[in-house]
Amino acid sequence: KSIDDLGDLRGKRVIIRCDLNVPLDGDKITDDGRIRASVPTLTRLADAGAKVIILAHLGRPKGKPNPEFSLAPVAERLAELLGRPVAFAADTTGPQAREVVDGLADGEVALLENVRFDPREDSKDEAERAELARAYAELGDAFVSDGFGVVHRKQASVYDLAKLLPHAAGELVKAETEVLRAITEDPQRPFVVVLGGAKVSDKLAVIDNLLAKADSLLIGGGMVFTFLAARGFEVGKSLLEADQVETCRSYLERAGREGTEIVLPTDIVVAPEFAADAPPTVVAADAIPADQLGMDIGPESAAAFAEKIAGARTAFWNGPMGVAEFAAFAGGTRAVAEAMTKVDGLSVVGGGDSAAAVRDLGFADDDFGHISTGGGASLEYLEGKELPGLQVLED
Ligand code: 3PG
Repeated sequence: KSIDDLGDLRGKRVIIRCDLNVPLDGDKITDDGRIRASVPTLTRLADAGAKVIILAHLGRPKGKPNPEFSLAPVAERLAELLGRPVAFAADTTGPQAREVVDGLADGEVALLENVRFDPREDSKDEAERAELARAYAELGDAFVSDGFGVVHRKQASVYDLAKLLPHAAGELVKAETEVLRAITEDPQRPFVVVLGGAKVSDKLAVIDNLLAKADSLLIGGGMVFTFLAARGFEVGKSLLEADQVETCRSYLERAGREGTEIVLPTDIVVAPEFAADAPPTVVAADAIPADQLGMDIGPESAAAFAEKIAGARTAFWNGPMGVAEFAAFAGGTRAVAEAMTKVDGLSVVGGGDSAAAVRDLGFADDDFGHISTGGGASLEYLEGKELPGLQVLED
């Protein structure tokens, strides 16, 4: 269901779940991509005359109010981006929230404090979540789900609330799911997937599912060393998940059988320690010295990855190729980002961290076909899992 199905919104109190979980340095927002991505639906609702009430989380405050995780700085930035005031309530279902909501005129916007200050929001106990969802529902007449980054979470403001009010998917959730559906159901070929990031254990299910779908799987980042170990190479002091070596070996064997290629780097940038000023050295992937750790894929691998990506008709990328926040070890990530901008077809950058990394490296959002606001959510979609926050909208 889309917003049109909710009928005339003038004067209606519309609760919208957004994902405004942005990285902060103190109270300074270091990447406002998710706030910007929320603007189209919010503008549409406000322009339609709705009283717009935003629910969102920030970080993982573990069910307790904590000023470090306050959404107050987000309210300020949101007001700038929307070009209209955003009232902020310092609680979520308490007296302040009720007062702010009661004071809204048609077309006005309010942001309520971090939903995760209440332990019931992400409780495993369905009755607790339902109780909180009923309190949210008292504040509104309709519900719009637009926090794509949290649709994989069975939480009160994502899942349970949708059961209590007339509901619809927002523009962002619609756009994100359309892109991911196109990738998984009918990708233009060659379909190239690039995976990086620290832990292979976070990516096992996605590798498993994409081995049957992608033409090439390019692997970099910290997770690659477990694959290199599976090839029988020594990885020195690099990140290694010893308990996953066998699984990686089975993927390498399966890829051979299924006609999907798994491309691993042939050279690695190593350093003696994990530090921005550690001296970098390029070595062959099968000759990582025992006293060094891998910090990035090497230039030969970066060029080979870039060539594969640039030849794709569909490309999906999640996770940096190296320690991209240190300039000396950002080369692989930069090369992959650059190649993603050249795809003649659909290029999708998945995940908050990857999106922040490409913006940090100076790329603009419209250099890519689509930048997903969902890290975990986009990966779980690609794993072929049913996402509760999407499934509840279909019921
Ligand atoms: C994210 O950052 O991926 C989303 O905001 C979800 O956050 P969570 O992993 O803490 O649920």
